[in-house]
Amino acid sequence: MITYRQISTHDREYAVEKELRNRVLRKPLGLMLSEQDLQGEDEQAHLVAMDGTGTVVGCVLIAFTEKGAKIRQIAIEERYRGRGIGTKLMKGAEQIVRDRDLGAVTLHARQTARRFFEKLGYAAVSDVFIEVTIPHVKMEKILFDHAS
Ligand SMILES: CC(C)(COP(=O)(O)OP(=O)(O)OC[C@H]1O[C@@H](n2cnc3c(N)ncnc32)[C@H](O)[C@@H]1OP(=O)(O)O)[C@@H](O)C(=O)NCCC(=O)NCCS
Repeated sequence: MITYRQISTHDREYAVEKELRNRVLRKPLGLMLSEQDLQGEDEQAHLVAMDGTGTVVGCVLIAFTEKGAKIRQIAIEERYRGRGIGTKLMKGAEQIVRDRDLGAVTLHARQTARRFFEKLGYAAVSDVFIEVTIPHVKMEKILFDHAS
């Protein structure tokens, strides 16, 4: 059974979360998580998925800025993909954003994952650009309209 939990950078799961992010998001590109990647993470929200043994098998982070919220670094352990865990983490992340009364969320999607985000209601709002050596596109989802 998969369980979902918000953690902080003081929890022991943070080290496992970072290892997963490094292995899934950086190593295949010949990179490592950088100081810049990790900067400010104690102020960001960290939502993780854990298997029955308490091992972190998926994660997503949310960075809050003056402009709003940005979802970053969603990563699912390879053998756990295609089971809806990424979707659950994204919905959980969106709820965290809503709970802060923020009505929109952005992210930088890898082109390879663009369809995943489109299925969740995200729309591209930029041209393709290169980040961590590969093509990305900025995407946005409006969660609610403050005016209505
Ligand atoms: C992208 C990722 C987070 C998706 O997580 P997941 O748990 O496998 O996704 P889900 O099982 O919730 O899939 C939801 C839907 O999106 C689809 N989907 C998932 N990943 C996809 C991809 N890369 N391309 C196209 N469709 C994808 C699934 O087929 C599913 O479709 P369905 O609802 O029609 O059945 C995961 O594959 C991953 O960690 N990839 C490597 C890291 C990465 O690319 N992260 C994104 C960085 S921007």
